[in-house]
Amino acid sequence: MAEQFDVAVIGAGAAGMMAAAVAGQRGRRVVLIDHAEHLAEKIRISGGGRCNFTNLQAGPANYLSDNPHFCRSALSRYTPRDFLDLIERHGVRWHEKHKGQLFCDDSAQQIIDLLVAECAAGGVAWRRPCRVGEVARDEAGFSLETSLGRIEVASLVVATGGLSIPKIGATDFGFRLAKQFDLPLVPLRAALVPLTFAAADWAPFAELSGVSLEVEVSGGSGKRRGHFREDLLFTHRGLSGPAILQISSFWSPGEAITLNLAPDTDLAEALLAAKPGNKQQLQNALAQWLPRRLAEHWAAASGYAGRPLADMPDRTLRELAQRLNAWQLVPAGSEGYRKAEVTAGGVDTRALDQKTMMAKAVPGLFFVGEVMDVTGWLGGYNFQWAWASGYSAGMAA
Ligand code: FDA
Repeated sequence: MAEQFDVAVIGAGAAGMMAAAVAGQRGRRVVLIDHAEHLAEKIRISGGGRCNFTNLQAGPANYLSDNPHFCRSALSRYTPRDFLDLIERHGVRWHEKHKGQLFCDDSAQQIIDLLVAECAAGGVAWRRPCRVGEVARDEAGFSLETSLGRIEVASLVVATGGLSIPKIGATDFGFRLAKQFDLPLVPLRAALVPLTFAAADWAPFAELSGVSLEVEVSGGSGKRRGHFREDLLFTHRGLSGPAILQISSFWSPGEAITLNLAPDTDLAEALLAAKPGNKQQLQNALAQWLPRRLAEHWAAASGYAGRPLADMPDRTLRELAQRLNAWQLVPAGSEGYRKAEVTAGGVDTRALDQKTMMAKAVPGLFFVGEVMDVTGWLGGYNFQWAWASGYSAGMAA
């Protein structure tokens, strides 16, 4: 005997819980299914345990997609202010960190608890841990074979997220289901991820591991081009920190990224102006603008470490300054889905309705959250997409 519901949501992460709660509170009989032992692990570990749950500036310009206008409708129907109202109703205290990024004062667990409470308010039935096998469709709706029995529903919301962090339950379920229903996919790639270099290329920089500084970074090509001013972190294998995570979403293999290590200073101008009669050693001069370890590294690399600034040929100073203000590097790759915060690409939104998130060719089948080809910048934008797309589908499913 199959159990009957109006709506099944597969994936009880950010987008799935939001969609289930909203549909349930509209009076729909909802079942929420997840295969993981622990609920919403990605929310729990997000934002260093404090969940950067939205960004006040969230708008279409903060998202990458092959169909860039798709996200506009959902983002305007459920805004950062709407989510703030929700968390304030639940008494969750929050603060703004920087650039509109909002975090919990206490713990990301509070966001999970409030979503569970919203699901309870909508009478949502839980099935977890529960594996979903075959999904079939007929005129009446969808039939799901699960490890806890067969479930029949009129609407199916797929909220299984992307491929990042497989060890806490990420799967390709949503992408396989899209293929089963002949929906197109935009190729997947790890995004918001540290970038790596060939061991031999990186050997001279490995000693800088741990150095961090604010930089300007740019990269990408064509319509997918990004420019950010954020912190950079040197690691043993390459580069990380918010600046690199941001640009990684725009980067394609083989392309260079450009770093300005002293974004407030035209170093050629500053060094040439300081040079006449200057007995200061090069690394000490550079340390006015760069962290000391970096200044020492670049002075050594130029072959003039320990020499007075006044001794340096203008041309050498200019070349050094040019490398520091516009350092071009070609990463060999990224740390991959093991370390990526998100998966870019996914279900092609051209096949979905922008108001409801429903597949145009498959009435009753909805996709929400990261499984779709909508990828936010670092800084709370991905959760805002989960809330907004989850809300839109929850209102329609
Ligand atoms: P999510 O991945 O949250 O949920 C998918 C759910 O589906 C999971 O519960 C999973 O178990 C379940 N599932 C998968 N396959 C299944 C299957 N076959 N059967 C049943 N269930 C299945 N974003 C942000 O805005 N601010 C932040 O601070 C952070 N911080 C952050 C830190 C780290 C370390 C990571 C990895 C990611 C972030 N993010 C973030 C990104 C953010 O976590 C992500 O974009 C959202 O969680 C996506 O929400 P979804 O609900 O779409 O997927």
